[in-house]
Amino acid sequence: MKVLLLGASGRIGRRITTELLDRGHAVTGVSRSGDVDGIDDPDFETVAGDATDAGDVAELAAGHDAVASALGPSEDEDVAALVEMAEAVVEGVREAGVDRLVWTGGAGILEVAPGVQLVDTEDFPDEWEPVARAAIEAYDVISAAEDIEWTYLAPPAFIEPGERTGEYRTAEGELVADDEGESRISMEDFAVAFADVLEDGTAVHTQLGVGY
Ligand SMILES: NC(=O)c1ccc[n+]([C@@H]2O[C@H](COP(=O)([O-])OP(=O)(O)OC[C@H]3O[C@@H](n4cnc5c(N)ncnc54)[C@H](OP(=O)(O)O)[C@@H]3O)[C@@H](O)[C@H]2O)c1
Repeated sequence: MKVLLLGASGRIGRRITTELLDRGHAVTGVSRSGDVDGIDDPDFETVAGDATDAGDVAELAAGHDAVASALGPSEDEDVAALVEMAEAVVEGVREAGVDRLVWTGGAGILEVAPGVQLVDTEDFPDEWEPVARAAIEAYDVISAAEDIEWTYLAPPAFIEPGERTGEYRTAEGELVADDEGESRISMEDFAVAFADVLEDGTAVHTQLGVGY
């Protein structure tokens, strides 16, 4: 598969790039500078592009089998940039005639009990709330695109660099937590789940929570 990966230079994006390359896919990695440090592979090409610009996305997406996103707003940027990116990516993907979009979302949207989203729980950290709400708004943009085969893959509450075990569980619309109530995954295993969803063409038109 030939995949355009937006956000390839990010913490999660670099792990998704590595996982896809290890599986034999060709990856075009996008960052604003055009640089993605630390990945050297004949099937990996890096390009510069602005994910808030639908024209850029359309031009870059053309000729790819799928568009993947590990986009996030920079620390010095308003979180609303994430919603702008979702709008531009949907428009660009549509313009390029690419059918498949897999988006790295946020855990805040996931339900912890029927009708209760993680972002609305008492213990949800205040400092995470703005980006969590922006990620939910991005979901609203993506989920309105019925003509695109989108999947919104949401990490668990905690996702950190770690080990690739190849193990994970998923739940549609729900936060995945273990028996002790811990909701976490390594970025490497999130990348495994991401690549599986992309390869299998499953979980179309849904939000899928991932975790151990
Ligand atoms: N528990 C959770 O819910 C949870 C936890 C962690 C992360 N996440 C979400 O997962 C996503 C990825 O997280 P991360 O930690 O890997 O983020 P990150 O390291 O900050 O990476 C963000 C990526 O987005 C790219 N980007 C930002 N603005 C762009 C633009 N206008 N055009 C093109 N590329 C742009 C950056 O590229 P350049 O800066 O190089 O251009 C970078 O590759 C985020 O949406 C984040 O909110 C969720």
